[in-house]
Amino acid sequence: MVEETISLQYKIDGGDFKKAGYASSQIKKRLQKLNIHPKVIKKIVIALYEAEINVVAYAYDAVIRIEIGNETVKVKIKDNGPGIQDINQAMEKGYSTASSKIREMGFGAGMGLSNMKKNSDKFDIKSKINEGTEINIINYRINIKNENN
Ligand SMILES: Nc1ncnc2c1ncn2[C@@H]1O[C@H](COP(=O)(O)OP(=O)(O)OP(=O)(O)O)[C@@H](O)[C@H]1O
Ligand SMILES: [Mg+2]
Repeated sequence: MVEETISLQYKIDGGDFKKAGYASSQIKKRLQKLNIHPKVIKKIVIALYEAEINVVAYAYDAVIRIEIGNETVKVKIKDNGPGIQDINQAMEKGYSTASSKIREMGFGAGMGLSNMKKNSDKFDIKSKINEGTEINIINYRINIKNENN
């Protein structure tokens, strides 16, 4: 079978919490129109939402790229931002540098990155100080009519 890939791209601006969650809800609608199982969509959207909030909270802007293939859904979130000094520390549950303003909005539990990893079949994060952070997520595709694959 010929591999057909659908590519989607979205831009996120940092700082604007009113728009946070917009890209992930748009992506959710696009994924729901395809033959992808809801439990796979849920994982992808949870991880995307956490990534989007992190961009709004900590970075300047970002691009989300999604590649939907026959076997996998690949998601890349690449931001321009301060980067993460110690990725292992940032990945720890409960570690957060969120400001009081961010905490007042209900974020800053230090659970976002670990939640992203938990909802990914493959999760990779790399970061450069004063440049930005790139996260790559792969989830294996399960189609609605074929729950056993
Ligand atoms: N894109 C990013 N750019 C720079 N720093 C980041 C980025 N994403 C996460 N971080 C850093 O890693 C820490 C942990 O992130 P994580 O998403 O796990 O928790 P949080 O955002 O602090 O809280 P929560 O996600 O539970 O609301 C953040 O507090 C921040 O210091
Ligand atoms: Mg977070």
